[in-house]
This record gives sequence, structure tokens and C-alpha cells, in this order.
Amino acid sequence: MPVRSAQDIMKLQCLTLKNYRSYEELEFHPGEHLNVLVGQNAAGKTNLLESIHYLAAGRSHRTHRDSDMVRWGENGFSISASIRAGSVRHTIDCVYEHSRGKSFRLNGVPQKRLSDVIGTLNAVVFSPDDLYLIKGGPDGRRALMDGEIGQINRRYRRALSRYGRVLSQRNDALKRIASARSSRATAELMSAPWEEQLADIGGIIVAVRLAMLQRWSEWARKVYETVVGSDEELTIHYRCSFAKAEQVSNERTADMAKWARDHLLRALEETRAQEIERGHTLVGPQRDDLRVYINGRDARHYASQGQQRSAILALRMAEVEWMREETGRRPLLLLDDVMSELDAGRASRLSAGVSDGGQTFITCTDLSEVGLGDVGTIWGVRDGEVSRSVER
Ligand SMILES: Nc1ncnc2c1ncn2[C@@H]1O[C@H](COP(=O)(O)OP(=O)(O)OP(=O)(O)O)[C@@H](O)[C@H]1O
Ligand SMILES: [Mg+2]
Repeated sequence: MPVRSAQDIMKLQCLTLKNYRSYEELEFHPGEHLNVLVGQNAAGKTNLLESIHYLAAGRSHRTHRDSDMVRWGENGFSISASIRAGSVRHTIDCVYEHSRGKSFRLNGVPQKRLSDVIGTLNAVVFSPDDLYLIKGGPDGRRALMDGEIGQINRRYRRALSRYGRVLSQRNDALKRIASARSSRATAELMSAPWEEQLADIGGIIVAVRLAMLQRWSEWARKVYETVVGSDEELTIHYRCSFAKAEQVSNERTADMAKWARDHLLRALEETRAQEIERGHTLVGPQRDDLRVYINGRDARHYASQGQQRSAILALRMAEVEWMREETGRRPLLLLDDVMSELDAGRASRLSAGVSDGGQTFITCTDLSEVGLGDVGTIWGVRDGEVSRSVER
């Protein structure tokens, strides 16, 4: 991976937690480059990474419920961070209270919409639970695409929320049509306006995803080769619910959006009768998926456990490269328990891969398993405290 200058790197300079999971109070000033967080099981390592990622994504990578992160017996938590993106500095403060939910301030100014906060800090997290990205259902993979693109693309975030609203309006219309036993002509009249809108917004969503996947797949292939050291080929493919996306994946985003719009509109018309029967919309980006292939074979069915883990690591590191390409800044890389998943050769190639001048956080239970030589700052994590460790 290329070594970067200070201008194109995002850095977390200070993180403050209050009543966040196992942390009653924490002020953490991480090192500029590699930070190794060492501690026994249940010491609070994952909690720390989760809190950093929370500020980037606006949600936890482990749970959908913000209340889970409140230290037991308390009424709320807070996370604050000062960050540097190139030469620009920002502060983000998040406060959650059981009674009022969460609120954010950006550089001290309260923010009405979460979507205005997301994107200030960019971070990619690798977690041992990530196997769901290959083995699990499509929801998780869609959430991955939406979360990652959403972190850096405000237009996409807005498109997603508008699409969600229009989709539920059309689904309501479909149910009304079914219960009124409307004629075919009336059904068309009631449903068509929503279909136009779904196709317009859905076309943009699919096109942005396709463009992202193209680059992401390209980087994943490279990382799989260099970090994982595999001569197999890793690729990612978009599975569109209403057309064959391979046909357009090399086109410009605007052309892909038009292509997706036209196909989606036609598919909505064609499936309308079936959708009225079922009471919901059966085609569109909310039904799309992606697939990971190793040497042209679906990793979900044919890859070994080790291959799947390595593929996921490559996907995550490829996300870092993709995000850097898009934003001009290398995001934070949060690697939770990654070393225990890799053999010695892969671990040492990974160490070389993360020494690219960007800021990385790696957790482990035993320093010897990391094999990072003299690079980085070592932190001891214990009972909700993080301290600079002299031991190597
Ligand atoms: N809301 C909460 N309030 C208080 N403690 C919590 C809360 N949620 C989780 N914990 C505790 O935080 C502790 C540390 O969890 P964490 O997942 O960060 O450990 P870890 O250091 O990553 O361990 P491992 O090496 O096993 O992955 C656990 O003992 C857990 O019970
Ligand atoms: Mg952990």
C-alpha cells in the first residue's frame, strides 16, 4: 500500500468516553499511526473500537440498540472526539440519554440530522463477527454497502431515506388496491406515480452501488494478493433483483443510473399484479445483494473457513482504499482481534500493509501474536482503563 503524507490522512487525536459500556470515564490520546490495544478477554478492547466507529457511522457495528451501550445502571453515555482530516480539525460530540435518545454536535454546533454528522470521521472496522458478510443473509450485505457508501456520500444517504419513504407509500397503496379489489386500470392509476419515483431514486442508488463495487472489487483483488498472499482471485459482484448488472458495470454512473431506472420501471410494471397479491414491492435495491467470489466460485458455498476470513479482511482493507480514493483521506482502520485469525505469514504481511502512515487500531490479547516489531504505540487495556504500556 502507498505511504501517505499528513495531508491525506484522517487522525483521531483525542477520544473521551463517559458511561460507555465498561468505561465510566476515559480520555484517550492515541498515537499517530499504529495503536496496539492489548488486554485480556472482557477488558474493554472491542468497546473502545465500537465507540470510535459509532462516531463515524452513527450506529454501533455490534447492536441496533443505542441503549445497549449505556453503562449498566446509568442514564446515558457520551462520546467525544477531536479529529484531524488533513489540515482541518473537527470535534464531534454525541450524547445519548434513555429519556431523549441521541444527539450530536459538530464543532460545538447542535446538528438536527444524523446525516449531517456522518462523514466527518471515516472509519472501517473489521470484526471477528464479520463472517456474516459471506455466510449471512442479504440484509447484512446491503447494510454494509449502504453504511460504507453512506459514510462518504450525503446524496446517497438522502436517496436511501427518500427511497424508504416512497417504498412504504407504494406498499400501502398495494395493500389498499388489494383490499378494494380494484380493477387493473385503477390499480395502475394508484400505483404508477410511486413507481416513477421508485425507479428514479432506485436507479441512483443502484448506480452508486455499482460504481462503488467496481472499485471495491478491484482493490479487494489487489489486497487479497498482497496482504493475504494468495494467488487466487477475489472478486465482488452485484446481484440486481431486476436486471443483469454485469451489462453496465463499466459505464459512467449517470448512464448506469438511467439504465437501472429504465429496467426498474419496467420490472415494477411487470410484477405489479404479483406485488398487489403479496402486499409489498418485490424488485428494487431493497432486494439486491452482492456475492463474493474466489477464483470465480461463490465463497459462501465453496471457500474454506480460512479463505472466508482472509476474504473478509481483504474486503475491509479494500474499503479503506476505496474510501481514501473517494474522499482523498485514508480513514481509520479498526482491526478487532484480527491476528488470532491469521497465520504467521499473513499476520506479518498485514503488519506491512497497515504501516502506510494511516492511523490503525489493532486489538489482541497477547502482544506476541501481533508480531509488529517496533512499530506503533502499545496500550494496555484493563477494567475500563487504557494506559501506555512500556512492555513490548
Ligand atoms: N452496557 C454495558 N455496561 C457495562 N459493561 C458492559 C456493557 N456492555 C458490555 N459490557 C462489558 O464490557 C466488557 C468488555 O467487553 P469487550 O467486548 O470490550 O471486551 P474485549 O476486551 O473486546 O474482550 P475479548 O478479548 O473477549 O474480545 C465485558 O465484560 C462486558 O460485559
Ligand atoms: Mg473483543
